[in-house]
Amino acid sequence: MKGCILAGGLGSRLFPLTKITNKHLLPVYDRPMIYYPIECLVNAGIDDIMIVTGGRKSGDFLELLGNGKDFGLKHLNYTYQEGEGGIAAALSLCEHWAKGSPLCVVLGDNIIERNIRKAVANFKEQKQGGKILLKEVHDPERFGVATLSGDKVLRIVEKPKNPESNLAVIGIYMYDGRVWDIIKTLKPSDRGELEITDVNNWYIQDGSLTCEVLEGWWTDAGTPKSLHQSACLVANGGANRLD
Ligand code: DAU
Repeated sequence: MKGCILAGGLGSRLFPLTKITNKHLLPVYDRPMIYYPIECLVNAGIDDIMIVTGGRKSGDFLELLGNGKDFGLKHLNYTYQEGEGGIAAALSLCEHWAKGSPLCVVLGDNIIERNIRKAVANFKEQKQGGKILLKEVHDPERFGVATLSGDKVLRIVEKPKNPESNLAVIGIYMYDGRVWDIIKTLKPSDRGELEITDVNNWYIQDGSLTCEVLEGWWTDAGTPKSLHQSACLVANGGANRLD
């Protein structure tokens, strides 16, 4: 299984912190943000990794990470996203490298307390389709929100004004080899991006999307508040809500 970390985009929600650097190079407590998604994949036994960079100071990723020696890796792959075409657009840049292999995608600003080993093992057994991970949150309108019937996902709505549940779809996704052709069918959303939620809804329509609720805390670090919260969670080593 291969792993893709999406660390493109302009990080505009964090201006002016991101005016001169890339969001994923900012510190989260004692390490740069990009360390956390790499550790997430490596902890799950995924060591063949592509990092999609973009925006400002993308060359600094190479200087910081090199071949991934700090994570016990022998090699890291890099690619570059121009502009901010969306998460699915960033993912499409990995097609030439990952085609034919099942894939675990981690958003570069997502941080988890524990690990995704069980979910990855379950996805390997699933053989086909996709898998998403869910987490109960108090502010679902900030995320993709899943509506379930039992353990079946009925639909996902991206940043709904009136969320049907408090189950956020976190930024860790697993896909089979069909994902590349699915991305090619997507149209830009109202915010002008190719949405990963549209990919996940495709798998729902196909009847092949499974979900699991993540154990331990999860946070994104893409806003001033959540960046601060991430640092507190990491520092305390346990759940810690600021608001
Ligand atoms: O954090 C989980 C949420 O992430 C999900 O619940 C949402 O369904 C999903 O759309 C996404 O929402 P955000 O609006 O928070 O995503 P954001 O634009 O902040 O991008 C998250 C990461 O994805 C970012 O740190 C880098 C990567 N990305 C994003 C864009 C727009 C790219 O690599 N390229 C891009 O063009």
